[in-house]
Amino acid sequence: MLEEIIRAAREAGKIMLEGEKEPIDVKTKAGAANFVTQYDLAVQENLREALKKICPEADFLGEEGEAKTTGTELVFIVDPIDGTTNFIHGYRHSAISIALAREGKVEYGVVYNPYTEEVFSAKRGEGARRNGETIRVSNRPMEEALICFGTSPYDPSLAEASFRLAKKLFDRAADIRRSGSAALDLCAIAAGQCEFDFELVLQPWDFAASSLIIEEAGGCVSRPSGAPLRILEPNPLIAGNRPVYEAFFKEGLDKEVEIR
Ligand code: IPD
Ligand code: CA
Ligand code: CA
Repeated sequence: MLEEIIRAAREAGKIMLEGEKEPIDVKTKAGAANFVTQYDLAVQENLREALKKICPEADFLGEEGEAKTTGTELVFIVDPIDGTTNFIHGYRHSAISIALAREGKVEYGVVYNPYTEEVFSAKRGEGARRNGETIRVSNRPMEEALICFGTSPYDPSLAEASFRLAKKLFDRAADIRRSGSAALDLCAIAAGQCEFDFELVLQPWDFAASSLIIEEAGGCVSRPSGAPLRILEPNPLIAGNRPVYEAFFKEGLDKEVEIR
């Protein structure tokens, strides 16, 4: 199953890369700074077909179009392009994210970055991999940590709180980054390239696949209260290696986040 999902992600990645050669047609969606291109739609349709063949009994929850699931037992949760704003700008840091969840628990996760040809993957209970090699979170403490964050761009009412928390973390850690792809940020923690990430609201397709990848790499992911993520709903999210995740609570930073 995992290998088949990876194959589907690689194939869909070819469509994404066509965006480097052909003009990108940008349309706005509901909410602030929320864009969709013909590539988001084409990648999603390609994956809908391919994943149906891999597991016909699974429902499909994708970001584009009518993002709804009837909550059946098995569901693919798909972000055709995570990092659409980067994609539109030719920033070359975006990914395809595919999770297969059973009763609200992610069993398989695949995140593919077609620019670097990196495939991050995990099957529950079997560890996390990058291009087949096992990956682990780092052991760096807060003072040495590289912190990622997302700005919840589609909900400007969260900007104040996001930047306040980012500043608090910046004061304690080595530095901060804002990459533009939540899925790749979480995979970077899994691979030991950074230590912590937060965003005050993320959608299931942003985090489903990479939340399993980070757990299987020995990292921690939850709501900022410490409560488990609700996989089929929007969530505020924190994730980290163990030392920085624990320091977040020990230093009372969870109190900075009003959304529980
Ligand atoms: C977005 C990216 C971004 C995050 C946003 C997401 P999209 O996904 O992951 O890093 O800050 O909250 O919505 O719209 O490019 O698929
Ligand atoms: Ca996304
Ligand atoms: Ca997207």
